[in-house]
Amino acid sequence: MMRFLLFLASLALATAEDGSKAWLRYARVAQANSTSSLPASIIALNTTKSSPVYTAGQELAKGIQGIFGKRLPISNGTAKTSSIIVGTAAAYEREFGNSSHFSDLKEDGFWLSIDVESVRIIGQNERGALYGAFEYLSHIAQGRLGGTSFISNPNSPIRWVNEWDNLDGTIERGYAGPSIFFKNGVVVDDLTRVAEYARLLASIKINGIIINNVNAKAELLNSTNIEGLARIADVMRPFGVQVGISLNFASPQSFGLKTFDPLDTSVISWWNNVTNQIYSRVPDMAGYLVKANSEGQPGPLTYNRTLADGANMFAKVAKPHGGIVMFRAFVYDNHLNESHWKDDRANAAVEFFKDLDGKFDDNVVVQIKYGAIDFQVREPVSPLFAHLPNSNTAIELQVTQEYLGQQAHLVYLAPMWKETLEFDMRVDSKPSKVQDIISGQRFKRPLGGSAAVVNVGTDTNWLGHHLALSNLYAYGRLAWNPSEDAKEILQDWISLTFSQDQKVIDTITKMSLLSWPAYENYTGNLGIQTLTDITGNHFGPNPRAMDNNGWGQWTRADSLSIGMDRTVSNGTGNAGQYPKEIAEMYENIETTPEDLLLWFHHVPYTQKLKSGKTVIQHFYDSHYAGAETAASFVPMWESLKGKLDEQRYNDVLFRQIYQAGHAVVWRDAINNFYHNLSSIEDEQKRVGRHPWRIEAEGMQLSGGYVPVHIEPPEAGSNSTAIAILATNSTASTGSVTTTVPFESGTYDIGIQYFDISSGRASWSISLNNQTVGQWIGNLEDKLGKAAADSMNGHTSTRITFLGVKVQKGDMLRVTGKGDGKEGAGLDYVVFLPKGKMVID
Ligand SMILES: *[C@@H]1O[C@H](CO)[C@@H](O)[C@H](O)[C@H]1NC(C)=O
Ligand SMILES: *[C@@H]1O[C@H](CO)[C@@H](O)[C@H](O)[C@H]1NC(C)=O
Ligand SMILES: *[C@@H]1O[C@H](CO)[C@@H](O)[C@H](O)[C@H]1NC(C)=O
Ligand SMILES: *[C@@H]1O[C@H](CO)[C@@H](O)[C@H](O)[C@H]1NC(C)=O
Ligand SMILES: *[C@@H]1O[C@H](CO)[C@@H](O)[C@H](O)[C@H]1NC(C)=O
Ligand SMILES: *[C@@H]1O[C@H](CO)[C@@H](O)[C@H](O)[C@H]1NC(C)=O
Ligand SMILES: *[C@@H]1O[C@H](CO)[C@@H](O)[C@H](O)[C@H]1NC(C)=O
Ligand SMILES: *[C@@H]1O[C@H](CO)[C@@H](O)[C@H](O)[C@H]1NC(C)=O
Ligand SMILES: *[C@@H]1O[C@H](CO)[C@@H](O)[C@H](O)[C@H]1NC(C)=O
Ligand SMILES: *[C@@H]1O[C@H](CO)[C@@H](O)[C@H](O)[C@H]1NC(C)=O
Ligand SMILES: *[C@@H]1O[C@H](CO)[C@@H](O)[C@H](O)[C@H]1NC(C)=O
Ligand SMILES: *[C@@H]1O[C@H](CO)[C@@H](O)[C@H](O)[C@H]1NC(C)=O
Repeated sequence: MMRFLLFLASLALATAEDGSKAWLRYARVAQANSTSSLPASIIALNTTKSSPVYTAGQELAKGIQGIFGKRLPISNGTAKTSSIIVGTAAAYEREFGNSSHFSDLKEDGFWLSIDVESVRIIGQNERGALYGAFEYLSHIAQGRLGGTSFISNPNSPIRWVNEWDNLDGTIERGYAGPSIFFKNGVVVDDLTRVAEYARLLASIKINGIIINNVNAKAELLNSTNIEGLARIADVMRPFGVQVGISLNFASPQSFGLKTFDPLDTSVISWWNNVTNQIYSRVPDMAGYLVKANSEGQPGPLTYNRTLADGANMFAKVAKPHGGIVMFRAFVYDNHLNESHWKDDRANAAVEFFKDLDGKFDDNVVVQIKYGAIDFQVREPVSPLFAHLPNSNTAIELQVTQEYLGQQAHLVYLAPMWKETLEFDMRVDSKPSKVQDIISGQRFKRPLGGSAAVVNVGTDTNWLGHHLALSNLYAYGRLAWNPSEDAKEILQDWISLTFSQDQKVIDTITKMSLLSWPAYENYTGNLGIQTLTDITGNHFGPNPRAMDNNGWGQWTRADSLSIGMDRTVSNGTGNAGQYPKEIAEMYENIETTPEDLLLWFHHVPYTQKLKSGKTVIQHFYDSHYAGAETAASFVPMWESLKGKLDEQRYNDVLFRQIYQAGHAVVWRDAINNFYHNLSSIEDEQKRVGRHPWRIEAEGMQLSGGYVPVHIEPPEAGSNSTAIAILATNSTASTGSVTTTVPFESGTYDIGIQYFDISSGRASWSISLNNQTVGQWIGNLEDKLGKAAADSMNGHTSTRITFLGVKVQKGDMLRVTGKGDGKEGAGLDYVVFLPKGKMVID
């Protein structure tokens, strides 16, 4: 019996590392093995259960129990000598009578003082006290047990996350399962995960959340859903997270009014009533987020009213309740004409908003995406940040990796965000860092801050990829203090999430810091944008999808030249939207940073870069280098085997192997595309040559397999693959055979196949009738990336069997069995010689 119980306990321990606790694991730390330096009790200066100070007391007890293995009593009594006291400055002053330390505290700020036997965690408000408690726990969880005393204040008051959850439970651009908030049109009954999410958010000092998609539905405002909103607010309130909602501008019409004109009195009183209803249930609601007149959404322009008229209508009804209105600047015409050389989506935000500066009410905040277009792998900072000195602004970032690998690729984003936040716009030739504009400091604005689209889902680990949580963590840290270092933030996160083992920290640091440059290398460099299916799911490569449509994410690539001419002298004039010093830098090709060359200039493929390479050769080289870097993440991660828990080790390994294979798909698709378009040879003779591949269509086909042309052609090797089309007939299986033409030796054998969202086809590969491996097309169960149901760059997948002994002349056979729409598609088999750095 005893043994059985012990077994159960160890099982519980082993399954505990599923990522659900993120960076709040409170694992035992070696340095905390002696509890002598720990105070004897926790005193939380409040007892109301819904108060963040109460939460702080509970969290401190829980954390210390984990880290020191000791349960401390919590009370609200008077100070004992040896205690951790947490509370607001006002409560502390009432209890102990002196407050000299607290005069420098700003809203949400805290004072943390750690002494041998006494810890003081004092917030400017209740939320600040909770933040201080999490800060203290983060210190001790990393084994930092020495004394310290400091004040921490936020850079800006608005530190929000946005969730793009739909009422039906789906999430737009969400890659980690369905919504934790909604299902079947209403708020879910069980809000346990919502409370856990609020806890994560509080621990990184996030104070607001918009719970529904910016493409909003009017039904959110009916009585059922207002009641649901109130329940969500109730579970998030103890963590100091205020909830807000996205609105559909045309809601009054959906509820029966004849109009949604923002100046119409019936419309105003309709919104006034709804707002009052919501605030009567959620008195501390954060406010509204509005996407208007964008991508088909209704808005004030329908009635010839200005965007400011629209924003101010909401601002006026929310103001009496202390609510604010985040108004998105993502307004543009998606029917641009590429034959007009001067049409430019990047100009839209400034064109729409510049003249409205000063016309927004003081509780309106203009929420501006970091770049001028749309969450690309690299963009210049949105010029709009320089044009609103008399308006409140916030920056919009994305933790959800919409154009950045959808959490199937590792991409640590803090370095990219840092470049944006620290970019100096030089407004009026004065220092004007973006982080000082959004904080309100540069233009002396009362409000401002940041919002990040996060899109957590029901996946146990929140974002699908365990390593993607570094982005959520870093977002919170940078929203609070944008001056922090991206690498230091990362290392705190690794230490809290995985281990304090130096090798673990060094390895994950190395992978993470290489990940954005690598992704940029293999998806779209020199400022050409993420070359994906921009009108589709934004995941895999599809360079031709950028042009010849109205969406304006153009490359203007032809057989001779590439890039958007955004100069004032001969192009769209976008460079001229920046303040003088920046405009001059971008106008001139010599002073434009090379990583934005093709964003601002249209050049021949043979244009020389500073390295002496041509643009096209740089493309080729970067795509090869990026894919090689992605492949190197696999052995790096494998070097941590035994130093991490099995579950997370295996989960991450699976994704890194996937990424390595998909980086090759990206590399080949883009290189093939520009190789064909430009007819310029790769100096290193790699592009278009695949010495170690055997094309499936070149083998002997039998059973149901037939050749299939791949669209876009560059997404398939030799533009052709094979598949079983009649998967519901008797011919639902097929096989291909050939003899191995390579010298005898040990190879890693890769098979490039197509795993579409429908069906679960199966494959097996054998040499001389000896099975090498078999697998199932079930990525849709394992990766949360956007669904795709065709054989193309989104679905092309590589599986690799390592260290296979091969004799020249062996009979190679791949057998496939289709399932529904999934026809066991097969592109090629590649033999990678062991020990050579070759990724064919
Ligand atoms: C406690 O931890 C320290 C530092 O890791 C170590 O030197 C010491 O041996 C440990 N003591 C016990 C009793 O585990
Ligand atoms: C302390 O907690 C007790 C119940 O545990 C409660 O009755 C009392 O009002 C609290 N005191 C203060 C100062 O909050
Ligand atoms: C205790 O919590 C309540 C409710 O959140 C709040 O109104 C009150 O100010 C808090 N008291 C102290 C001493 O912080
Ligand atoms: C309270 O005031 C005394 C005397 O000024 C000072 O020594 C002490 O540090 C103060 N304590 C706190 C927590 O502010
Ligand atoms: C509110 O809308 C949801 C659909 O989003 C629906 O299921 C629910 O019944 C509606 N409630 C009322 C009172 O109309
Ligand atoms: C006010 O809003 C509530 C909730 O949406 C709704 O039930 C009620 O009919 C509205 N009243 C008016 C006068 O529009
Ligand atoms: C908006 O203005 C244009 C021209 O100024 C006019 O043709 C149009 O009818 C107006 N639309 C509305 C809805 O008032
Ligand atoms: C100037 O713009 C025209 C289109 O109006 C374009 O064809 C030409 O290539 C551009 N010249 C340069 C030097 O970029
Ligand atoms: C990106 O590509 C360049 C070559 O263009 C290479 O020098 C660099 O090392 C690559 N970086 C990564 C992280 O792959
Ligand atoms: C490439 O595909 C074509 C058909 O599209 C086919 O005829 C040719 O044999 C293929 N090449 C190889 C090497 O399999
Ligand atoms: C297979 O399914 C397709 C589409 O559902 C249908 O048109 C076709 O008749 C089916 N074929 C057989 C042999 O059942
Ligand atoms: C593989 O098995 C088939 C029969 O299933 C047989 O005809 C063939 O000779 C075998 N090939 C080898 C290389 O053993």
